[in-house]
Amino acid sequence: MSRDNPNKIGVCVIGSGRAGMIHARNFGRRVNRGRLVALVDAHAETLSAAQKELEIERGYADFRDALADPRVDAVVVVTPTALHREVVLAAARAGKHVLCEKPMAMDVQECDEMIAACKDGGVKLQIGFMRRYDESFMAASARIKAGEIGDVVLIKSLTHGPSVPQEWMYDIRKSNGPLAEVNSHDIDTLRWFAGSEITEVYALGGNFRCPQAAARYPDFYDNVAMVCRFADGRQGFIDGAVSVGYGYDARTEVIGTRGVIFVGRKEQDSVVGCSTDRGIAQQFVTSWRTLFTEAYVAEDQDFVDCIREDRDPKVQGIDGRMAVAVVNAGNRSITERSPVGVELTPRAAPAGGRR
Ligand SMILES: NC(=O)c1ccc[n+]([C@@H]2O[C@H](COP(=O)([O-])OP(=O)(O)OC[C@H]3O[C@@H](n4cnc5c(N)ncnc54)[C@H](O)[C@@H]3O)[C@@H](O)[C@H]2O)c1
Repeated sequence: MSRDNPNKIGVCVIGSGRAGMIHARNFGRRVNRGRLVALVDAHAETLSAAQKELEIERGYADFRDALADPRVDAVVVVTPTALHREVVLAAARAGKHVLCEKPMAMDVQECDEMIAACKDGGVKLQIGFMRRYDESFMAASARIKAGEIGDVVLIKSLTHGPSVPQEWMYDIRKSNGPLAEVNSHDIDTLRWFAGSEITEVYALGGNFRCPQAAARYPDFYDNVAMVCRFADGRQGFIDGAVSVGYGYDARTEVIGTRGVIFVGRKEQDSVVGCSTDRGIAQQFVTSWRTLFTEAYVAEDQDFVDCIREDRDPKVQGIDGRMAVAVVNAGNRSITERSPVGVELTPRAAPAGGRR
């Protein structure tokens, strides 16, 4: 518990960039029984701006110093993905509970190490798939489970991001590309809604909107289409895009034997304009920050509640691990131009069943 407030879990956010500040603001202002006690960022200006905004005295350039701080009970790992493994292993060794942003890590071996380290350290390991806390996605899951559309046959999920990628994301070896950075959420949604593991994928990638990256990063793709086969024979399809400009687009469609379910909205708000030159006009959702605002709060709240109540997180290391396995298979499929099997854990459902 936080030293100066024993009733609250002391939280440190490691990586105070775009996603880090969402968590930091939540723990600073909105999460009950948890409290933001420190911030970490390797970039001095980013760190001091974050500290100033949230009035947090303790700021560390090196995450190891934060892990030695007794006021820190738990950490949120929001550094670039390639650093997740190193930070999580150190946090687990220091006895700090972990909420790790997606993608969990770069490959399944790293994920397995992280899961084992948190188990050995006796700390929680939660993965940042916040769509599992979104009211609409949760309602869709409940209606699928209740049998409203019969048996699930095909799940299609897309995520398109508006912005030009950050420099580290162009390098597939550092980011695992848009399949990891953007579509990890879709992969998790497919597994969640199907209740089955993805065993095989076939993916196509191409760079259509980012000519500025083509020479330096010839492997970079800004658009991806991936067909998925589940262990029980059901079907999935994922479409990913970055730098689309028109808005942030995250929608899922589930086709069953007796109906269909659609999740996701396109409209930023309910304002509709109509003019003679533009016709009917409504603003598209602009960002994941606005679309999933409340889901991030619920995710952060549940992290604190899991620690306090000593229960397993709703989204665990195995969920992060399986998404990474699918990302790795998808990237291999793009390179090899052929279907690729997903590296499953022994815990995953065996192949077979309906085809
Ligand atoms: N759940 C979501 O919807 C969501 C959304 C965006 C990003 N993310 C994930 O969050 C992570 C960060 O993404 P981002 O968009 O916030 O990136 P970002 O570049 O905006 O932020 C990363 C921050 O980490 C800092 N950093 C880099 N190396 C560091 C180190 N060694 N120690 C401490 N700080 C360090 C950087 O200075 C930067 O401020 C990625 O894994 C990304 O996939 C998740």
